Amino acid sequence: MIFGRVKSLDAILATAERKSLHRSLGALQLTLLGVGAIIGTGIFVLTSEAAQKAGPGMMISFIIAGAVCAVAALCYSELASMVPVSGSAYTYTYASLGELLAWTVGWALVLEYAVAASAVAVGWSGYFVGQMRGWFGVEMPLSLIAGPYAGGIINLPAVIISLAITGLLIIGTSESAKVNAVLVGIKVTALTLFIVLALPVMRMENFEPFAPQGWMGAGGSGVIGAAASIFFAYVGFDAVSTAAEETKNPQRNVPLGLLGSLAICTIFYMLVASGAIGSPLGAQPVLNAAGQWLAPGSTELAARCATISAAGVEPLACSKEALAHVLREIGYLKIGNLIGLAAFLALPSVILVMIFGQTRMFFVMSRDGLLPEKLSTIHPKWKTPHIITAITGIGVTLAAAFLPVGKLADIANAGTLFAFLMVAIAVLRLRKTHPNVKRAFRVPAVWLVAILTILGCVGLFLALPSDAQLVLPVWGAVGLLLYFAYGYRKSHVARGLDVVPDAPKTPGAF
Ligand code: ALA
Repeated sequence: MIFGRVKSLDAILATAERKSLHRSLGALQLTLLGVGAIIGTGIFVLTSEAAQKAGPGMMISFIIAGAVCAVAALCYSELASMVPVSGSAYTYTYASLGELLAWTVGWALVLEYAVAASAVAVGWSGYFVGQMRGWFGVEMPLSLIAGPYAGGIINLPAVIISLAITGLLIIGTSESAKVNAVLVGIKVTALTLFIVLALPVMRMENFEPFAPQGWMGAGGSGVIGAAASIFFAYVGFDAVSTAAEETKNPQRNVPLGLLGSLAICTIFYMLVASGAIGSPLGAQPVLNAAGQWLAPGSTELAARCATISAAGVEPLACSKEALAHVLREIGYLKIGNLIGLAAFLALPSVILVMIFGQTRMFFVMSRDGLLPEKLSTIHPKWKTPHIITAITGIGVTLAAAFLPVGKLADIANAGTLFAFLMVAIAVLRLRKTHPNVKRAFRVPAVWLVAILTILGCVGLFLALPSDAQLVLPVWGAVGLLLYFAYGYRKSHVARGLDVVPDAPKTPGAF
């Protein structure tokens, strides 16, 4: 009975104990780690997409997405403090709901990490193009900066950054806490500067009509539809939970770090969104000549944007470097370029964290026997899982080369929402099956919080555009085929090998 293949919690905890990392992180470091992983393409680029979907109502979208993440973060906190080992949602599910569901979660997390990496690479490409134009006056040809969806051939800057970061990860660059702190500083300074310059000149009349597409419009538009897309801006906070094992007083610090970083980002996002809406550009969706709404990432919207921009000012919803564009339009040309430079410098670290997260996921799955062990081979000189990193990098690059940022973000969201949902179920299940295992952090009012998480995830998933929704079951079906062709037979749990004293060491963590 495959649902019975539950990985023993004792075995997992024994592994964790053997690894037993030094507890050195406090609430502040965890919050920085979270903010570093969270702020990225979501706010710097997808703000324009949120404007296209919801208009000024995107302010509410940011709150809804942040609230769903906050309740999910509480569930993550309990599991991370109880099962403080690599593999995050995949490992929690393995210990509570069994191998088959754990596999589907691990497989869905490919969408969270790898596809999100592609999305951030495409977002970075927009800022790269803007930098070339802003500082050097170089206009790059459309055929080389966008995929066929926008009349181009390939997104070359996105390809180059994806390959460069994969190369760095293969030769073993690990981002130190100091570099992370500097990059967080750059991102936070850029957003603060944006707020300080944009808020005082806000035009309140721009907030009307507030929600031109309503709560749920056609094609995934509306306030809820935008919340489902802008959810991407919060993805990555779960990185904090993976550091539970290295945290002092996790009962206090893990939830503080998770909720603290989410709260800080939500406040920043709200203020940035207000500044963008109140700017001369406004935030009303772009409609076609007949007054119909156009979906982000569609050829129709790209063509309409080209027409409007050629005749005058590029609308916010069309911009590939939303925040820099807003400041330039307010009149801060140089500072707009500097904000662009900040995004240009800081976004690659988000790609790095995401690809790294993906390789670590595959590594744990292959260590459990669900993927070929060969994949987790460590390079003799570089000491990195080079095969898995190269495979991940090629996948990330291909998706970034040909797909639009919003589509990639929506697909990443679908996978992430599924993982969050399973984490909420895992919390409830483990409270029943292992009531006495020590939890350094316990979710308060667990039923309420877990059920809100489940409802929030299902609600946002249903508000995603249907093609992004469809990717999840199709991807899941491919995963199940793979599982029954390979993992089902090779699984270490099935073969009684789940306590593996000489398991290969997890490659270096950040
Ligand atoms: N939250 C991350 C970003 O917005 C993934 O880039």
